[in-house]
Amino acid sequence: MSLELDAVTLTYPDGEGRLTALDDVSLTVPPGRLTAVVGPSGSGKSSLLAVAATLVTPDRGRVVVAGTDTAGLDAAGRAALRRTSLGIVFQQPNLLPSLTAAEQLQVMAHLSGRPPKSVRDRAMDLLDAVGLADRAARRPHQLSGGQRQRVNIARALMNEPSVLLVDEPTSALDHERGAAIVDLLATLTRERGTATLLVTHDHGHLSAAAETITLQDGHVTIGTPA
Ligand SMILES: Nc1ncnc2c1ncn2[C@@H]1O[C@H](COP(=O)(O)OP(=O)(O)OP(=O)(O)O)[C@@H](O)[C@H]1O
Ligand SMILES: [Mg+2]
Repeated sequence: MSLELDAVTLTYPDGEGRLTALDDVSLTVPPGRLTAVVGPSGSGKSSLLAVAATLVTPDRGRVVVAGTDTAGLDAAGRAALRRTSLGIVFQQPNLLPSLTAAEQLQVMAHLSGRPPKSVRDRAMDLLDAVGLADRAARRPHQLSGGQRQRVNIARALMNEPSVLLVDEPTSALDHERGAAIVDLLATLTRERGTATLLVTHDHGHLSAAAETITLQDGHVTIGTPA
């Protein structure tokens, strides 16, 4: 299931007028594809992810997540769609300090009411996929920055999302560790078939992406809009 934005425009209140954060942006990310989004600070990258995540409603345009046109959804419907179809990874891992790596993942799935044993098995499978099977019992302060970001990514995949949205996951890491995280995202995208949109400021990471979209002042300048 894919992610599709069609002619999306988003403005924010700005003094007397409006600031255009996204200007007629169209893109399609098919399943199993990693699309990178680059562009200068303030060009609209995080706004693009917020719209795709249904956290912000655009002024105009269509946002279709895993076949569902989000325009028809109320707040509860959008929350349900986020729970079932979207995995979101922000810059800072936001892990809960008192929980182990395995528990961080299990909390997500308990929210969606799955049987405990399958939740535990799935958490271990995902920790293994991100190379942390042997760190499952560790709490965030016992993990490195890169390991915490791996837990964050595994957590986002817990409910088998069709669409994975990732905002600058490597900004707290050095280039080498950042590249390893992006390679991991590319592998998970392929193996799990997610439609992945990755915001990055590090052009060295773009080789892992199947496609790159460049934003400038809210519109796509380079890339292949749908
Ligand atoms: N909640 C908001 N209210 C008003 N303006 C906003 C809001 N969020 C973002 N903006 C403005 O919208 C524009 C795009 O911001 P956005 O956060 O999407 O940029 P970005 O490309 O993610 O930048 P960075 O690389 O610095 O994270 C900027 O001019 C920003 O100041
Ligand atoms: Mg941003």
